[in-house]
Amino acid sequence: MVSIEQIREQIEGLRRELSYHNHKYYVCNSPEISDFDFDKMMRQLVDLEAAYPQFYDPLSPSVRVGSDRTSEFASVAHRYPMLSLSNTYSIEELSQFVERIEGEYGPTEFVCELKFDGTAISLTYEHGRLVRAVTRGDGTTGDDVTANVKTIRSIPLVLSGNDYPDLFEIRGEIFMPYTSFDRLNAEREAAGDSLFANPRNAAAGTLKQQQSAVVAKRGLDCILYQMAGDNLPFTNHIENLSAARSWGFKISEYMTLCHGAAEVIEYINHWDEARKSLPYPTDGVVIKVNDFAQRRSLGFTAKSPRWAVAYKFKAESALTKLLSVDFQVGRTGAITPVANLEPVLLAGTTVKRASLHNAEQIAALDIRVGDMVYVEKGGEIIPKITGVELSARTAECKPFEYIDRCPECGAELVRFEGEAKHYCPNQSGCRPQIVGRIVHFIGRKALNIDGLGGETVELLFENGLVRDIADLYTLKAADLAVLPRLGEKSADNIINSIEASKAVPFARLLFGLGIRFVGETTAKYMAAHFKSLDAVMAADKQALMESDEVGDKIAESIIGYFADPVNISILERLRCAGLQFEAEATERHSDTLEGKNIVVSGKFTLHSRDELKALIELHGGKNQSGVSSNTDFIVAGENMGPAKLQKAEKLGVKILTEQQFIELLGDSNSEPAPIKPAVEPQTKTEQVIQTSLF
Ligand code: IVH
Repeated sequence: MVSIEQIREQIEGLRRELSYHNHKYYVCNSPEISDFDFDKMMRQLVDLEAAYPQFYDPLSPSVRVGSDRTSEFASVAHRYPMLSLSNTYSIEELSQFVERIEGEYGPTEFVCELKFDGTAISLTYEHGRLVRAVTRGDGTTGDDVTANVKTIRSIPLVLSGNDYPDLFEIRGEIFMPYTSFDRLNAEREAAGDSLFANPRNAAAGTLKQQQSAVVAKRGLDCILYQMAGDNLPFTNHIENLSAARSWGFKISEYMTLCHGAAEVIEYINHWDEARKSLPYPTDGVVIKVNDFAQRRSLGFTAKSPRWAVAYKFKAESALTKLLSVDFQVGRTGAITPVANLEPVLLAGTTVKRASLHNAEQIAALDIRVGDMVYVEKGGEIIPKITGVELSARTAECKPFEYIDRCPECGAELVRFEGEAKHYCPNQSGCRPQIVGRIVHFIGRKALNIDGLGGETVELLFENGLVRDIADLYTLKAADLAVLPRLGEKSADNIINSIEASKAVPFARLLFGLGIRFVGETTAKYMAAHFKSLDAVMAADKQALMESDEVGDKIAESIIGYFADPVNISILERLRCAGLQFEAEATERHSDTLEGKNIVVSGKFTLHSRDELKALIELHGGKNQSGVSSNTDFIVAGENMGPAKLQKAEKLGVKILTEQQFIELLGDSNSEPAPIKPAVEPQTKTEQVIQTSLF
């Protein structure tokens, strides 16, 4: 018989061993056992933990796989504000930074580090155990993402050794290595999901996932670069980080102590080139004063420490040959010229295609097929061509004609006033536009129809089963069965998911319609403002522009959309299918404004007009568009209409400022707090960080 005590010992032994091998694999990059043996040991632990829940430990290595429960993130105030660094692109400014400090303090130790390109995180450890992980947020308050962070295998859950302070924070960068990024985007492409533009967005987006099991699969990593606390073991940066390395943290091996500007510049020049072969993205070098007493004496400005600076690398570019140009038709009919390139390595990935923007850009850069061209990665997914190496041009490089007909349907292309792009106007007869609209409609942020990806939509279209978004709602499982590679179960899933989409809130339906320029946020504001599709359809340009985010261009696009009888007939079919054409009534937060008629007018500083209107309804009040004798009060911002003001004065209607209105709601006001301004200089908080944040 195995005693319960023996079970406990076995569980603890497995945990210790798994933590050890985890550290060897993810932090030291030198595994001692095979993946197979590791997985076997992990399974043993998971089974034992399930059988003996009394030995549950929230920091067991088994939490690395995450959970599929969805979690909301609580807001947490940072014990020490998370500041940013002042940036420079100039070696001269950087030398001045070094020389200014040396001028004041004499020879100084500087620590040069890589600037990792991900998203900042602050980890709190108590008695050697990870208790909290918080994002930067606005610098003062961030999101508690502990459950997600626990799945990042290079972050120790329980520390090694015994010389760590009882309580400390360690900060660093969570990032996505290129291999994880490429794998993630390849998976998303196959599933018809939108792609992440770069590893930084992918890391930040992943960290905010609501299911930690999803985070666990995405291969995030974390390097720590900063400690904060009252009882750190050493009085300088580099020794503290070396100690942290011995406790199990991943600390950069490329941290170097430098003296004087020349050594700092040498470090920068080396890494500007050497970073290209790192497996993760970096965007600069951070130079920090090593000694804490000197840091204290240098202090902080409102936003950043005076003892550190970031030198940012210029965007990487590569030179390669332009082989040919394709023209792609997007869901809105916009034509995008795409360059096919001789494959070239750029910022960690191989680039074969690049955007050429539009005809004007091609003419301005005088780009010809056969040219050697410069490619850069900006914030977008597809890299762009930024110039031509004219010295490499040969007689074979010929200017090429921009197309005047749609490459897909042959329709004559049009150009809208003030826009550089060409468009195919054949909305209802051009395949990529039709398919693109359907793919947009089923997307996660729109109607979220699972199981249907870009490829299946293409097949449905080719088989004549779906010609527009409304056709989705007449599909039957038997129709889908004819499609190749689609089993009965997948067909049922699709049908169920289409059925479920009927309950998707109105704002997402409005976004899903794919009206040009109406993005996710605009759709949300419009849904809150108009409350129903009928109200949107009835609104003229002026009325449309009363909604936040809707300007001239968007209003015209909306009117154009509803003027098309094809769209009206699609909408009628969607209405009959039972989709949500009205915004949900929001749950009340209080009755503070019960029975009150309120007018909101002017421009505000803390909230948008629509946010104030939403608040009024949440607290039981009624929004009025104009002042009348039954108006109880006006919430007035800057530049309130003079007519309204005159009428209010005549009728003796009370006028409240935004601040007074918020005070009136008092504690019952439960809307999200407005973004706080950055940390003010010379506050009490700053006194604290000056002694504790290194
Ligand atoms: S030190 C007080 N070191 O860059 C500032 N930051 O604007 C503490 N970053 O938010 C930051 N690599 O997310 C520091 N080696 C490094 C870094 C680094 C990347 C990020 C960090 C910070 C931003 C600076």
